Amino acid sequence: GAPVTTDISALPMGQRMIVEWRGQPIWIVRRSPEILKALPLLDNRLRDPKSEDVDQQPKYVLKGDVHYRSIKPEISVLVGLCTHLGCSPEMKAEIRPEPFDPEWKGGYFCPCHKSRFDMSGRVFQGVPAPKNLAVPPHYFANDNTIVLG
Ligand code: FES
Repeated sequence: GAPVTTDISALPMGQRMIVEWRGQPIWIVRRSPEILKALPLLDNRLRDPKSEDVDQQPKYVLKGDVHYRSIKPEISVLVGLCTHLGCSPEMKAEIRPEPFDPEWKGGYFCPCHKSRFDMSGRVFQGVPAPKNLAVPPHYFANDNTIVLG
């Protein structure tokens, strides 16, 4: 399919926009400094904290801080399909203690079988989803323009 170009200039801090690419929902999320700061805190509870499964993201999103899985720290781009059976996880970006976990730092929750992911799409241990959410191939054409594909 053709590449998909998206203007992210109107995307507010802490919010997600969803675009379609190759029939899949692609999430583009502008992460706050608080969200970025929380990402390393639960590494010991993730299945693949360093994103070593090469199928789940292009190499260039691991060139910076490995916790971010993104080209720019604040902009996360993910395929919005649970790696268990493909449901669409909900975004629960708030860093808050309940209801999911006393140590919840914000992330994605799949309502189908309760898989959880952090705000980089990294999957937690002890849930049905086997892999981190995928990062699609993409690049920035300029500061506010993402090209998928
Ligand atoms: Fe997401 Fe099963 S499809 S947990």
